[in-house]
Amino acid sequence: MPIINKMISTLIPYLPKLLIYQFAKKYVAGVSQESALKTIQNLNDQGYLATLDILGEHTEDESSASSITNQYIQLYKEINSRSLDCNISLKPTHIGADISLDTYNANLKKIIIESERVNNFLRIDMESSKYTDFTINSFIRERERGVNIGTVFQAYLFRTYNDITKLDPTNLNIRLCKGIYKEHPKICINDRKKINENYMKILRYAFQSNIYVGIATHDTTLMESIHKLIKELNISNEMFEFQVLYGVPMHGWNKKNLDNGYKVRVYIPFGEDWYKYSIRRLKENPDIAGYIIKNLFKK
Ligand code: FDA
Repeated sequence: MPIINKMISTLIPYLPKLLIYQFAKKYVAGVSQESALKTIQNLNDQGYLATLDILGEHTEDESSASSITNQYIQLYKEINSRSLDCNISLKPTHIGADISLDTYNANLKKIIIESERVNNFLRIDMESSKYTDFTINSFIRERERGVNIGTVFQAYLFRTYNDITKLDPTNLNIRLCKGIYKEHPKICINDRKKINENYMKILRYAFQSNIYVGIATHDTTLMESIHKLIKELNISNEMFEFQVLYGVPMHGWNKKNLDNGYKVRVYIPFGEDWYKYSIRRLKENPDIAGYIIKNLFKK
């Protein structure tokens, strides 16, 4: 099956867009801002929190980066006027990190002004290791100015434990995930079990240092260990939230976490870039390509 999936993944760009959309719509909350906002309302009604992400990355020109910035500003306004329980997650390269530091900083500043005006929170997603220092430095700079901001740490990087322990833990808000980019084995743990061990080591440190953690994972084995750690250290549910990607099956864990009184935040991607995003996801994970074929034959 994996070989077949690999073959399918090379054919993906030639599959009809409509078919790809059949796959994508499970993971993407539509193309328009309105469809994403409706999805959030729906999730809020069921007790879930949300974080909203406009799909896209590696913006190449000033005017596109500026347009994305304005869309994020507009989103904060809509979240506020509709009283949604939702913050924003954005990728540095989407708002200009590849163009110049000045462009990125200027756009980030505009978004932060709006996020502060409406008393919301901003999460800077973590991209590949090329941007790790860039992102952490930008996060530290804004945090030192008192901005309500957080970033993301990836348990698969050797450097991560050190990066986190170097930060002042006071009022620190991080998302902890495994990491999704292909990295060189020199800088990254490749063994899945060892990634989980590092995840738990970092999480234990964070809990013991009173750091607020967005625990981002769909791994149910890891989830068991996390629940045990929460109980062992008697962590207040005010000090963490679970975070999941929109559409990823959680085999009852989302409901279980809500029933336990834990917060669950759903990461909701949307936007015109859904096609590129889905193709990339499919190419990165040929196993998912098999689902496309199943969809082909579904009634
Ligand atoms: P694992 O990879 O073991 O997956 C567990 C199960 O979930 C498997 O059955 C798998 O098939 C399924 N699954 C996982 N992801 C799926 C997907 N997208 N579609 C369908 N099934 C899926 N990474 C990063 O580098 N920078 C970041 O800023 C973020 N941000 C982020 C936010 C949130 C809310 C989440 C949940 C994840 C991220 N990630 C991320 C991605 C993260 O690093 C990681 O790659 C994925 O979550 C997969 O790792 P898991 O911990 O879920 O375990």
